Amino acid sequence: MVDNTIISIRDVVKRFGSSVLAVNNVSLDIKQGEFFALLGPSGCGKTTLLRILAGFETPSEGQVLIDGDDMERVEPNKRPVNMVFQSYAVFPHMTVRQNVAYGLRVVGTPKPEIDQRVQESLSLVQLEELADRKPDELSGGQRQRVALARALVKHPKVLLLDEPLSALDAKLREQMQIELVHLQQTVGITFVIVTHDQNEALSMADRVAVMNGGNVLQVASPTELYEYPNCRFVADFIGKMNLFDGQVVGVKEGQVVVRADAITAHIGDISVPFGDEARGKVGIAIRPEKVKLDGEEPKDMPIRVRAKVVEVVYYGNESHVFLQSTSGAKITANIKNTSRNTHAGIVKGDQLWVSWCPQDTLVLTS
Ligand SMILES: Nc1ncnc2c1ncn2[C@@H]1O[C@H](COP(=O)(O)OP(=O)(O)OP(=O)(O)O)[C@@H](O)[C@H]1O
Ligand SMILES: [Mg+2]
Repeated sequence: MVDNTIISIRDVVKRFGSSVLAVNNVSLDIKQGEFFALLGPSGCGKTTLLRILAGFETPSEGQVLIDGDDMERVEPNKRPVNMVFQSYAVFPHMTVRQNVAYGLRVVGTPKPEIDQRVQESLSLVQLEELADRKPDELSGGQRQRVALARALVKHPKVLLLDEPLSALDAKLREQMQIELVHLQQTVGITFVIVTHDQNEALSMADRVAVMNGGNVLQVASPTELYEYPNCRFVADFIGKMNLFDGQVVGVKEGQVVVRADAITAHIGDISVPFGDEARGKVGIAIRPEKVKLDGEEPKDMPIRVRAKVVEVVYYGNESHVFLQSTSGAKITANIKNTSRNTHAGIVKGDQLWVSWCPQDTLVLTS
């Protein structure tokens, strides 16, 4: 185990009955002080994995260590973790202050210590002014902060958060994402957050584990995940991606030569930088914002395809241009609207050249 590992998940399997395999042999280490996200589509096993860490579920196989201690048979309330639930549970009949104090009161913490710790937690989430209100006198974001303060007051080593912002509207969500990151940096404890929102995971976390069907497919930093997804699922799940079927026809020093009929019909096989081994069928992928559009053939670009604009969708800050190549491939290009002269005058029906750089091209072997 690495020195600063706080949570070590080892070969964890969780079955429900004989037919549901919710977590399929997951191993990963989470570091002390890290903001770690579990990301994946609905039903992929995120909550189950979090509940296993909290002690609300027992793994069918495998082991969980927290701060070096094996958690087998350690009750949830004896673990150095605290969980904030998907639908934030606060007591409606108690004031904010009483809600936050509750967890300390039930374990008999002395009154002066309770007062001091409650004050400290309320200040962390900026709720001091509202301490004497009841939850129904608060906004959604404020109620969510009460739930956070309730968890923080217990001084856990790890805070487990299951979709903590899912009940909030888009604007408030974004604001709370920034607040959560600040809070985590202030208290310095490890946060493990579950989300199915890729933007949320990318914008908040130091590292993200992408899950699908009970499996962890990739664990990496947000930039690594976005720029170097290790498989088609991750490439497609994180952000938008143009994906084409290809065939490796040769290997050169640090490069592969690929034939992808959808895009190589005009230019012939393409060479793409690739460090690992690749043979047979691969996926060729390019992010829409890395695709360029030109009226004239950009002869200096080794990857270029003639295509017709099928649709242009305007989003204010950018426009998404949907194209179809002469060989029938669908390609999307995202154009930044950097001036009021929106999307460079591109309209439906235009015949354009689509191109991109070999070094921005991804080769996906699985
Ligand atoms: N107590 C249970 N009994 C039987 N099956 C369960 C139980 N809890 C979860 N499952 C199943 O295990 C799988 C993983 O569920 P989990 O709640 O971990 O998904 P999730 O990734 O959190 O999804 P969501 O994003 O929808 O919250 C699902 O197929 C779910 O139906
Ligand atoms: Mg869930």
